[in-house]
Amino acid sequence: PEPAAAACSPKKCGELNVTYPFWLEEKGQTPCGSPSFQLNCNGSQALLSRSMFGGYQVVQVFPENSSFIAVDNNLPLDDGCPPWWFNISVGIGLGPFVISKKNRELLVLDNCTKEATPPGFNRTGCANESFYRLGGEYGSHRELADLPPACCLSVVPVLGFQDGDGYIPSMSQGFLLEWTVPSDDCPKCEASGGQCRYANDGTGFSCHCSGDVYPEKCGELTKIN
Ligand SMILES: *[C@@H]1O[C@H](CO)[C@@H](O)[C@H](O)[C@H]1NC(C)=O
Ligand SMILES: *[C@@H]1O[C@H](CO)[C@@H](O)[C@H](O)[C@H]1NC(C)=O
Ligand SMILES: *[C@@H]1O[C@H](CO)[C@@H](O)[C@H](O)[C@H]1NC(C)=O
Ligand SMILES: *[C@@H]1O[C@H](CO)[C@@H](O)[C@H](O)[C@H]1NC(C)=O
Ligand SMILES: *[C@@H]1O[C@H](CO)[C@@H](O)[C@H](O)[C@H]1NC(C)=O
Ligand SMILES: *[C@@H]1O[C@H](CO)[C@@H](O)[C@H](O)[C@H]1NC(C)=O
Ligand SMILES: *[C@@H]1O[C@H](CO)[C@@H](O)[C@H](O)[C@H]1NC(C)=O
Repeated sequence: PEPAAAACSPKKCGELNVTYPFWLEEKGQTPCGSPSFQLNCNGSQALLSRSMFGGYQVVQVFPENSSFIAVDNNLPLDDGCPPWWFNISVGIGLGPFVISKKNRELLVLDNCTKEATPPGFNRTGCANESFYRLGGEYGSHRELADLPPACCLSVVPVLGFQDGDGYIPSMSQGFLLEWTVPSDDCPKCEASGGQCRYANDGTGFSCHCSGDVYPEKCGELTKIN
């Protein structure tokens, strides 16, 4: 259905200004844009509607370089001890998002057979023996050769943490995601004084300039309406 353009203009959810390509879902309103960027405002938290258990909170968006910081509320943010450890990337699933290489890796080992702490790791405070340490650039653990083979490895992207701070606060700070669609026309549109919106079919791009709609930027030869 054709989205109601006025109702889709920038909105606020908690501390977050929700702007293109993100959009806020509202009861009884036709969708404004791409489902991947659909947000559900839970009073104060903007949650990605199409993420695992709707638990990914968007806390900061950088439209200028197509990236945002999200907190995974499915992680054990209070005590750092989940019922089981898993790789966070599993929860993102399909969609236009990739976990940025600007993140570091929080490496967690559990279910190890040997009692001793694996070298370089610190013990978590959890009931069942598990160990953590801060790794390198996100994705780099595949080159690690020194992981104890018996242990189960889980990888969580974090922005990093100081030695001694522990890993729990770093999970609450979130991690950086980058998007690859839907359009890189937005900076051009904003520079020309326009507002970025989805096109009328709800997927493409359009630039709104005081009443007129253009495909890329204000003042183009071709108008959309
Ligand atoms: C959100 O938008 C309002 C109004 O446009 C602006 O005053 C405020 O600085 C913005 N906040 C952030 C965090 O960008
Ligand atoms: C909704 O927000 C409240 C606090 O504002 C929080 O306690 C609750 O867990 C949130 N619900 C979800 C599903 O995140
Ligand atoms: C985008 O810019 C923000 C603010 O400067 C920065 O923190 C973030 O790391 C940048 N994202 C990427 C993918 O470079
Ligand atoms: C801890 O280990 C016990 C026995 O191996 C298992 O039954 C239990 O589910 C584990 N609990 C957690 C939180 O991993
Ligand atoms: C997490 O991913 C790594 C490879 O990236 C894999 O070796 C490991 O078994 C995965 N762990 C879990 C708990 O799925
Ligand atoms: C933990 O290790 C035992 C054997 O040492 C294995 O049977 C079990 O499946 C492992 N559990 C997980 C969650 O990997
Ligand atoms: C690991 O434990 C040691 C000794 O308690 C401490 O000095 C170090 O800062 C800890 N590292 C991390 C990443 O917490």
